[in-house]
Amino acid sequence: MSDWQHGFYKLSPKERRQRLTTALKLPVSVTDLLSDHASDLGNQLVENYLTDYSLPEGVALKLVVNGQEYQVPMVVEEPSVIAAAANGAQRVAKSGGFTAKKQDRELVGQVVVKPRGDVSTDLTWLKQHTTTMLKTANDAHPSMQRRGGGAKSVRLRTPGDFISVDLGINVCQAMGANSVNTMAEAVGKWLRSQGFNVLCAILSNYATASLQTVTCTVAFRDLATPQMVGQKVAERIAALSNLAQADPYRSATHNKGIMNGIDAVLIASGNDWRAIEAGAHAYAARDGQYRGLSSWQVKNGQLVGRLTLPLPVGVVGGSIGLNPLTRANYQISGIKTAEELAAVTASIGLAQNLAALRALASTGIQAGHMKLQYRSLAISVGARPNEVSSVTKRLAMLDHVDRAAARRVLDEIRKD
Ligand code: MEV
Repeated sequence: MSDWQHGFYKLSPKERRQRLTTALKLPVSVTDLLSDHASDLGNQLVENYLTDYSLPEGVALKLVVNGQEYQVPMVVEEPSVIAAAANGAQRVAKSGGFTAKKQDRELVGQVVVKPRGDVSTDLTWLKQHTTTMLKTANDAHPSMQRRGGGAKSVRLRTPGDFISVDLGINVCQAMGANSVNTMAEAVGKWLRSQGFNVLCAILSNYATASLQTVTCTVAFRDLATPQMVGQKVAERIAALSNLAQADPYRSATHNKGIMNGIDAVLIASGNDWRAIEAGAHAYAARDGQYRGLSSWQVKNGQLVGRLTLPLPVGVVGGSIGLNPLTRANYQISGIKTAEELAAVTASIGLAQNLAALRALASTGIQAGHMKLQYRSLAISVGARPNEVSSVTKRLAMLDHVDRAAARRVLDEIRKD
């Protein structure tokens, strides 16, 4: 460790910025930038805090779920994501919107032990002590039970050489990771006192007891492009969906498109998007092969879409109550419960997927993408806000667009 790194974590944010500036010989402009974006809240949230790194937030309009229309705040840096979500949502709204099933919401607290001796004897013993383990878990977090939640079930599995005691925990409206970890650790401590070697006690992000399914239909006429009739687009979307079931190279990209929308809603609603990403990809590989999370079929003269994934989201807990922007986002969307948030989030994922597949099935992705990428390119070569749209328009007329072209166009506009 270099000298300047010693005790870095003990410094104030201002002192940290100064120490970095000196040690790394940063220009003053960098230190000023870090300082301009710093906040007291950020310093409360993370270690070695320097500044707040911001991302753009937009809103997808006209997302209809179970007959209700939502405005959905989305936080994402990729230019085409919000436009695509809104585009997919509007096409589905014309056929009545998304239908989200009401489903159970439980998290899994995993306590993994090494067998004390014979595995089947241990399993019988653990089964006999289910009530004690549930009580131990609930005693560690009594407020959860008072709210109608708490540890409800115990499932025993034998992955590899281990026994996994899976606690099924209802965390009510919360994200619940801390509560589940507290309960799992209490059960781990008790199992240790009973002679088990406990390997770990922690929430599992493979939230198979918090699955959310959404479905939708889209009329052929709402899929047509200037070059292709709606039925052909629908058939090609269904073919792309089959491909995503068969080929992991395509499934990964197909699912990335779904997660583009889902992550953006999760970030805007203060949820742990890494947890949901991990669970979604584990679920996509649940039968041993990684597959697309959604499916699209042509049925009865229309396109029918379906998406299922684990969505253990919360509307309280974590940093949700701390960040005023997160609270504002709940006011914009009007979402009040975790069930509603899961339904809306999954619907955005399916809307996003529809828009991506429709583009892929017809004109290809670049036509729409590039218009939005041109904006980023214009900004990256120094276009001022009042110049961005002129640069973008001129770039769209060129055959070949890169940074050099963007710089050239910007110079031309300034000369004009
Ligand atoms: C890009 O961010 C996402 C897509 O690649 C998704 C897809 O191919 O389905 C367009």
